[in-house]
Amino acid sequence: MSEKAKVIVDGKEFELPVITGTENEKAIDIGKLRAESGGVITLDYGFKNTGSTTSSITFLDGEKGILRYRGYPIEQLAEKSEFLEVAYLLIYGDLPDKETYEKFKREISDSYFVHEDIKKIMDGFPSNAHPMGVLSSVATSLTAFYPASLDPNRSPEGVNLSIKRILAKMPTFAAWTYRRKLGRPIIYPDTAMDYCSNFLNMMFKMPGGRYEVDPVVANALDKLLILHADHEQNCSTSTVRITGSSRGSLYTSISAGINALWGPLHGGANMAVIEMLENIRMDGGDTKKWMDKAKDKDDPFRLMGFGHRVYKNFDPRARIIKKAADEVLEALGVQDPVLDIAKGLEEVALSDDYFVERKLYPNVDFYSGIIYRAMQIPVDMFTVIFALGRLPGWIAQWKEMRENGEPIGRPRQIYVGHTNRTYQPINER
Ligand code: CMC
Repeated sequence: MSEKAKVIVDGKEFELPVITGTENEKAIDIGKLRAESGGVITLDYGFKNTGSTTSSITFLDGEKGILRYRGYPIEQLAEKSEFLEVAYLLIYGDLPDKETYEKFKREISDSYFVHEDIKKIMDGFPSNAHPMGVLSSVATSLTAFYPASLDPNRSPEGVNLSIKRILAKMPTFAAWTYRRKLGRPIIYPDTAMDYCSNFLNMMFKMPGGRYEVDPVVANALDKLLILHADHEQNCSTSTVRITGSSRGSLYTSISAGINALWGPLHGGANMAVIEMLENIRMDGGDTKKWMDKAKDKDDPFRLMGFGHRVYKNFDPRARIIKKAADEVLEALGVQDPVLDIAKGLEEVALSDDYFVERKLYPNVDFYSGIIYRAMQIPVDMFTVIFALGRLPGWIAQWKEMRENGEPIGRPRQIYVGHTNRTYQPINER
């Protein structure tokens, strides 16, 4: 017999189905509660206990520190796979065989180039514009270059074309944003280069000059992108799904996701971490003083890169990244004083009652910024790199939502404002 949950409201009992996932996660399906109870809904600020969908893309157990894409542990993918292979896995459900993967990579590299008019759009932004704002605008602008992408009933082949185009062109947009900001001439994509090498080449090569992509840097970037590739129903991904649920196109939904990712409590945290570590360093490196600030409820300061909505023991991505940070800095011969400050903060926090009681651990963003710095990626590009990594996840989640035929996302509310009152003319107020 299938499991049921009982809810009693105003003395009336309602039986609700319990849904169980393949990893035995349970949810009470409240789909009929409002209709049957004559108006009762559930309230859950920040959706801390609310599932918005069923999904077969990513499994995450925050208590046990487990993260799997399509069933594959993140540790195995980070060690053995490549970013584009992981992208294929997330979007299409299985790892590609050799032939399929080679074809997929070729199709992506053939689409690296962007319409020349995109440069004019970028030229319209002030040179000090934040790269995330430029990136989201340029992502939306793809609807103008490929108007067929707006059709909500697009064929699967048409959807695949949109998917490959945005996967291929995002690194070009990202690198050009950076070049424009520095006033440097843009570097065109090189279709003979792999995804990460091509991106690094467009970021750092000078016209006429020589730039050899360091394989240590390209591999580290590839690993970082894999670690960011999906994270189930987080803030930006939920934004992508909800935007797409109005039959919004892939490009507009991704653009919405980029904006949601930008904030400092989400993808913007990687920038905020480095700024915080730099401030601590310039302030003399007294980690205890800053820990006290983070614990002080009258002080708005939070220890950036610490805490997570779902990980309450450790963030498996942070473990991999911490090790990678040591390896990359050693391989590149970089000594970064903020790495020592980060390790010092982590050590103090892990034994501090405030952080232990609230289960606050370093998250993916705590060490990623240190690697980006070692790669000479400027701070305001950190969140852009996160967006590049998260792109396959957004695409996979948008595609799943459309294929499931999910209804438009439209939460309800409990109104707590004025009850009915009568309009007063302005001179009588
Ligand atoms: N520093 C100090 N106190 C904290 C921190 C922190 N970084 N994070 C949470 N707390 C405290 C918070 O004040 C609250 O205390 P109390 O129960 O006494 O009121 C308690 O811990 C629970 O915090 P919350 O804000 O209710 O938890 P949340 O699940 O709503 O927020 C979070 C999760 C990630 C937004 C939050 O931990 C935070 O702001 N962290 C810093 C920003 C950050 O690193 N974000 C990146 C997240 S990982 C990348 C991604 O996936 O987006």
